Amino acid sequence: MTAIRVVVNGAYGKMGRTAIQGILGDPQLELVGAVGRERGLGLDAGEAAGSERVGVAIEGDLAACLERVRPQVVVDFTLPAVVKDNIRTILGAGAHAVVGTTGIAEGDLPLIQEWSQEAGKNVLVAPNFAIGAVLMIKFAREAVRYFPAVEIIEAHNPNKADAPSGTAIKTAEAMQGARAENPVVLSEEKIPGVRGGALNGIPIHSVRLPGYVAHQQVIFGGLGQTLTLRHDSISRESFIPGIVLAIKKVAQLDGVVYGFEHLLDD
Ligand SMILES: NC(=O)c1ccc[n+]([C@@H]2O[C@H](COP(=O)([O-])OP(=O)(O)OC[C@H]3O[C@@H](n4cnc5c(N)ncnc54)[C@H](OP(=O)(O)O)[C@@H]3O)[C@@H](O)[C@H]2O)c1
Repeated sequence: MTAIRVVVNGAYGKMGRTAIQGILGDPQLELVGAVGRERGLGLDAGEAAGSERVGVAIEGDLAACLERVRPQVVVDFTLPAVVKDNIRTILGAGAHAVVGTTGIAEGDLPLIQEWSQEAGKNVLVAPNFAIGAVLMIKFAREAVRYFPAVEIIEAHNPNKADAPSGTAIKTAEAMQGARAENPVVLSEEKIPGVRGGALNGIPIHSVRLPGYVAHQQVIFGGLGQTLTLRHDSISRESFIPGIVLAIKKVAQLDGVVYGFEHLLDD
């Protein structure tokens, strides 16, 4: 069986380097290209990821790279501001996209679906590739049926481009429609914004501190009791098995799929 030819976009970023480690560690995958913006250009992608030299230099132009190396799959870990343009470029170049970059919400999916149909290629959008986080969302969807109130607290490092996290948004979206409204909170805000933001009426609080990787609690409140679901990605290695599985399965999907959990059920 020939290896799947993969390009990583955002190759010098924290997650791009993690994805490269996963690709280099799997004999069914071949890293054929690596793209960045400014940092790391010209460096060997394997060495940049803390691995062996692989003879693939990080380059600066995604479209030119894809035109030259013709990958089957492109993995994108860049920034919310550019991810949609990247998806369009990837599909336009005839590759499937595995998108770990956050900032895409359910409302963006119809447009991406259009591009996917035009190109005849698939897109997996996964705000979180860690199995524990996927299970947390699944359990939250179940628990919300039995509790009248829920809030989300997520914590990441201060360099994270967006707040709240894509996982927090996905969790709030997953719980929508399955629950009653949160009760009216009577506490007066002594500091504006201290109660966090809200999506679909579910408060979300974003902590940004050095030392954190990716963490989330979903706290349910009911009569005389609370239930807390908590997930911690202690290192970025937690994302590698999910990224590798997504690269292997994206060609078998049908159009655009939102959420890593959809790859686990078959
Ligand atoms: N799905 C998941 O499981 C998961 C897990 C963790 C994080 N994330 C998400 O993944 C994304 C990346 O996170 P990170 O921690 O790796 O961030 P990061 O370390 O800041 O890396 C982002 C990289 O993207 C590069 N970049 C920016 N614009 C680009 C463009 N137009 N073309 C090519 N490369 C570009 C940046 O280049 P420069 O270095 O030159 O600025 C940087 O190296 C974020 O949205 C984050 O929330 C997802």
